[in-house]
Amino acid sequence: MDKKAEALAAAKRAAGYKAADMITDGMVVGLGTGSTVYYMIERLSTRVKKGLEVSGIPTSFQTALRAREAGISLTTMDDHPVIDIAIDGADEVDPKLRLIKGRGAAHLREKCMAAASKRFVVVVDEQKIVKNLGTAAVPVEVLPFAVMPVLNDLRGLGCEPIIREAMKKDGPVITDNGNFIVDCKFSAIKNPEKLEAAIAAIPGVVESGLFCGFTKKTTVIVGGIKKCTVITSPDVVT
Ligand code: 5RP
Repeated sequence: MDKKAEALAAAKRAAGYKAADMITDGMVVGLGTGSTVYYMIERLSTRVKKGLEVSGIPTSFQTALRAREAGISLTTMDDHPVIDIAIDGADEVDPKLRLIKGRGAAHLREKCMAAASKRFVVVVDEQKIVKNLGTAAVPVEVLPFAVMPVLNDLRGLGCEPIIREAMKKDGPVITDNGNFIVDCKFSAIKNPEKLEAAIAAIPGVVESGLFCGFTKKTTVIVGGIKKCTVITSPDVVT
């Protein structure tokens, strides 16, 4: 690992560990997806091995596999429709704590988890903090049956939609829910709430990676090499 990659890993580890330390005995914990959440699971695993009792709800096959290997008990939203705390990564975070997520194509379940959670903790490194959302493309999960009309409708919203291709499989990425991902690059996102609603209104769209509706219960932990910065919405009840 070169120095830059080491520094990035250290920042992600710091954010992930700090989030894992917010979990208390008996909590039902939403487990997001991605490389920063990986460190949160690592730290939570250590705490569980020392006696902490928690039940995790994973948002992807990747997280379910990692959590099982880490010795974390898993449950479902069927058994626990209200989650005490959800911890997840993000691709962009703006000053109002609105997010773009979905690089890992897990944003559908991640959004369901965030909605069901009393508290939403987002773990990121400094590179993810932006003034305006939209440098990253907005991932949109789409029902394969409807993908062609959906592409047309997405173009109508002013973006360049691209069906995400798999890396070690020919053809499109198939999500954990059996759908396609369309990455939508907008030149600028002036009103993220309006755009999220407009994308959601397209028949065949399952979910977009714009997360604008959870800001009031959001805490963002920004990992750094020496310390973490914690940004909490004034509405968060701790
Ligand atoms: C998966 C996600 C991830 O949480 C997001 O992409 C951040 O991942 P990482 O911590 O690996 O940068 O939304 O769908």
